Amino acid sequence: MRKITNICCIGAGYVGGPTMAVVAKQCPDIKVTIVDLNEARIAAWNDPDVNNIPVYEPGLSEVVAEARGRNLFFSTDVDQAIAEAEMVFISVNTPTKTYGSGKGMGADLKWIELCARQIARVSTSDKIIVEKSTLPVRTAEAVRDILHNTGSGVKFQVLSNPEFLAEGTAVEDLLSPDRVLIGGDDSEEGQEAIAALVDVYANWIPRERILTTNVWSSELSKLVANAFLAQRISSINAISELCEKTEANINEVSRAIGTDSRIGPKFLKASVGFGGSCFQKDILNLVYISRSFGLQEVADYWEQVIIMNNHQRKRFALNIVKSLYNTVSGKKIAFLGWAFKKDTNDTRESAAIYVADELLNEQAFIQVYDPKVQTEQIYHDLEYLETRSVESNRNGVSVYQDPYEACDGAHAIAVLTEWDEFKNYDWQKIYAKMLKPAKIFDGRNVLDHKALREIGFQVNGIGV
Ligand code: UDX
Ligand code: ADP
Repeated sequence: MRKITNICCIGAGYVGGPTMAVVAKQCPDIKVTIVDLNEARIAAWNDPDVNNIPVYEPGLSEVVAEARGRNLFFSTDVDQAIAEAEMVFISVNTPTKTYGSGKGMGADLKWIELCARQIARVSTSDKIIVEKSTLPVRTAEAVRDILHNTGSGVKFQVLSNPEFLAEGTAVEDLLSPDRVLIGGDDSEEGQEAIAALVDVYANWIPRERILTTNVWSSELSKLVANAFLAQRISSINAISELCEKTEANINEVSRAIGTDSRIGPKFLKASVGFGGSCFQKDILNLVYISRSFGLQEVADYWEQVIIMNNHQRKRFALNIVKSLYNTVSGKKIAFLGWAFKKDTNDTRESAAIYVADELLNEQAFIQVYDPKVQTEQIYHDLEYLETRSVESNRNGVSVYQDPYEACDGAHAIAVLTEWDEFKNYDWQKIYAKMLKPAKIFDGRNVLDHKALREIGFQVNGIGV
């Protein structure tokens, strides 16, 4: 069986970057090259100051500092890196389709197909291809089809190795994962390819935590794991609305049910709604696949998780409007946080985008502060929705580098991300800068509501 010494990863994003940086750190004998078509992104990964790498993750800069230039390389020369590698990871984006059949539901596999064709074109030696991106079930088949029909005589094995890291804790999750999942063919060659990848991970992960399955189980498990996690959030968020109508408190309900060991305490935090690049996309995939097999009830069941999440975001925005005497027109609303969760600069599907969109429809002015998200990203996120002109978005939203300035003259503050630093602000000082009555809408239940009320704030949380 061959021992892997040269790995290439196509795609230097939130998955490819951290995953391969950790592989390089843990396997100094393997040369790892991460390639991307995006020159600016590669330049940022190669920035002499590791604090400027394009993905913010606690601990990641240190990992890159240790391995970069030793056995970790970032490059735009995709062809050369593929040609030299024995194992190629595909970590390109697979967004939800925005056109044609499956629009708004199915995954756009354009980038995956391009990768497969590129690998087919430049390979002169046998390779193991590893799907790292989140893909709908049976994508490996398409990749395999392209690779097996090159006519070059080069042999490929396609494995599925879904990523379970969560952003904000990526390095920790990669260093000690609950499990690693590898799917491959039942054939002898397939089993050999699986073994080669198991050996890479076994450099730092106990073998009993490395699960192997067939390709389809592996691909489906990724979608199902995310669907189950997202379902817990939608379930608790549904109950949060009920709590607001009764005397119940969602934090108490979460604690009470989470201590049942069969339920468990994780992913029961009520919020303004889940975001991120995976949950919505993966559930939509699951729904799309189910529907395409004619499984209407199965599709409807999972779709409800998304419907509930959309409702939670909208409800949060409308609640702000309602408590500001049914109009926010011309009023300033400060947003604390724009990222979809703390400790990341990723904003994909962040609840903040949808809440802002709703409030902009009501003609509010939004003043955003986020410790890690760049200004242009915020405008880009709103433009992507295509709700209004680029100019209207820029007129309606200002971005600040200082939280106190963002809150200056505001009628209300909305907390959209649970950044730790928000808890330690000088809230007395913020109160003094705001219009009265000063309102806070804590979409993450992270602030000390009692202390804020003592200062004079009117506080609304989620389900409390
Ligand atoms: C998720 C999966 O956790 C990970 O295993 C998979 O590989 C990718 O998708 P990620 O999207 O990075 O990871 O973050 P996650 O921690 O799952 O949070 C997703 C969203 O749910 C965030 O917006 C978060 O704020 C929200 N959330 C999470 C809640 O609202 N309540 C909770 O209790 C937990
Ligand atoms: P993820 O969260 O899945 O990592 P990202 O969008 O952060 O998604 O990263 C995907 C990366 O893949 C992007 O930087 C994009 O430029 C890159 N990419 C997409 N298609 C190709 C391709 N054919 N060759 C090289 N890089 C690609």
